[in-house]
Parts: sequence; structure tokens; C-alpha cells
Amino acid sequence: MKDLSSIEKKVQRELKNTASVNDLEKIQLAYLGRNGIINSLLREIKNIRPEERKQYGQKINELKNLITQSIETKRKELILSTDKQAIDVTLPGKPYPHGTLHPITYAIEEISRIFEKIGFVRMSYPEVEWEYYSFEALNMPKGHPARDDFETFYIDVPEHAKLAKMVLTPHTSSGQVREMLRLGGKPPIRMINIAKCYRRNWDATHAPMFYQFEGMVVDRGINITHLKGTIDYFAKNFFGPDREIRLRPHHFQFTEPSFETDISCNVCGGTGTVNGKKCRVCKSGWLELGGSGMVHPNVLRAGGIDPEVYTGWAFGFGPERCLMMKLGLSEIRDLYSGDIRFLKQF
Ligand code: PHE
Repeated sequence: MKDLSSIEKKVQRELKNTASVNDLEKIQLAYLGRNGIINSLLREIKNIRPEERKQYGQKINELKNLITQSIETKRKELILSTDKQAIDVTLPGKPYPHGTLHPITYAIEEISRIFEKIGFVRMSYPEVEWEYYSFEALNMPKGHPARDDFETFYIDVPEHAKLAKMVLTPHTSSGQVREMLRLGGKPPIRMINIAKCYRRNWDATHAPMFYQFEGMVVDRGINITHLKGTIDYFAKNFFGPDREIRLRPHHFQFTEPSFETDISCNVCGGTGTVNGKKCRVCKSGWLELGGSGMVHPNVLRAGGIDPEVYTGWAFGFGPERCLMMKLGLSEIRDLYSGDIRFLKQF
């Protein structure tokens, strides 16, 4: 018994003089290890008189617990101490919170990849643009009422003699003639133009700043079947192989003929009804993707391309709208709220 209390004192002394986790482990091994002092004391039990064995065993256990606790306390002390030597490099590090790309960025990346796979060149053109490229060059001369549809922001700077006022570009179609001119009026053109656009709108499905992606192909012998085939390819790749598309007659000044482009609704499978009731998402079986059409001859001319030789098509869709349709979102403004709780869900 006397032995035990001297062992206890010895451990405490040793612990006091320990300055590193390494030394601490040596002490731990010496006392608590398989061939350590505690185990050797336990092996002695058989030499103790039977009536004292129980008490002896209890004392050893108490001593063992005490040593275990003291070592753990010392370990914490060493780890917390500023002594560099005592830092336990084996402890797991603190995880850094890391961000992700914005869901719109992901959508744009995916759209780019889908079109690049079939040979489209990814472009983007100025967001602060001349009126000329946004309207005149697109067959919408000064004072044309079709301009009203574009809810345009004007920039308060002096007018250019030919290019007129400056605007925040209200659609990516301003890139059509720029692309034709960039290539010196020499097709083939296969462009996917993705850029920010601006319009004076603010509701559940419209934000004043948004994106568009505009596809344009100009070459010899290009016709509507190429347009349909390309949009069908996009719809199946972005939304899923079971989706269908359709073209619906419409009017734009810069395309002739013009279409609204629809995609079959995935909630009702394009039927317009769910369990005998009108589909709440689409009401008709179809959802609108955006505008499209065959490039107007006047637009080709503005880009220095002879419409007697070349034809082309273009479409302009919204990545946000596509993303919302894919994820089932109803508020475009959530995408621009910057609310981490919302963004973290994707
Ligand atoms: N620029 C049109 C819009 O923003 C969409 C469109 C693009 C239509 C290309 C036809 C061809 O509404």
C-alpha cells in the first residue's frame, strides 16, 4: 500500500516536469501500457494474502484512474499552451467554410458546354452599347414602335453621329451584327452569345439585370429545320431526353419569319392536364423558352452579308428562366437576393 502512494507521487512529479506531448506519451506507456507499472502491480495480486486481495485490487484501480485522468489533464494543458513544441500536429484542422459558384454561373457553364459541343463559339458583347447595334442594325429604325418592347435604360452621354445614344443593352441580339462585322461579313457563323441584359422590369419573373443566351447561325442553305434541330438538341440536353419543343408564330423586327419557342411541360408531360385538372405550371402543356426566327435580310445587310447568298437563324433565351424551369423556382429575384440560405440549396 505504501508502494502505491509513492508511485502516485512519482507520477505527479514526472507529469509536472513534462513539457511535450511526446514525453507525456512515454509516461503513459510506462504506467498504463501493457508492460507498464499498473499491469505489473496487478500481476502481483496472486502473491497477496487472499483476505487483502480485494482491497489491494481496488486501490490499484483507483491509482490507475487517477493516473489516466492526470495524463489527460496534462495533455490538454500542453495542447492549449502557447509553447510551439506542445502543439499536437495530429489534431484535425479547422474546416474552412468554402463557397460555391452561383447557380446562374453553373447554368451558363452548362449552356456553353452544350453549344460548344456542336461547334458554337462562345462570345459576349458590350453591356453598355450603342443604340445602333441594339435597334437600328436590327431593323428597328429611330422612332419604331417595336423599340418600346425593350424597356431600355439610356445612358446620359453625348450622342454619336451614326451610332446614336448609349444604352444598357436590352437583349443579346445587339451581338448579331457585331459578330457579322467581326468576321468581316464572311460566314459561316456559329455563335453562342451569353451576356447581361438590362430592362426596366421588376416582378416575379423579371429582374432589371438578367442574362440572355443568343444562338446565331449564318451560312449557305441554312433554314428553319436547322433552328428546330438545334433547339431540340439543347432542350433534350439541358432539360432531359423526354422534352419536346415547338415553334409558334410570332413577330420580331429582326427575324422573318419569327417564332416563340416552347418546350413541353415536365409536370403534365405536355398534356396540359394533371389528374383531370388543368396543369398548374403550364396550363397548356407548353412553357415558353424565348424568341427565335430566321435572320431578317436587313440585319444580314447591316452585317455586310448578302442575303441572296446566305441565310441564318437566331434565338434568344434566358438562362435564369431555363434554370427556374429546371429547378422549379417561381421567383427570379431569389436568384439575385444574395441570400446564402437560398443559394446553399443548389
Ligand atoms: N432579342 C429577342 C428578345 O429579347 C429574342 C430573339 C432573339 C428573338 C433572336 C429572335 C431572334 O426578346
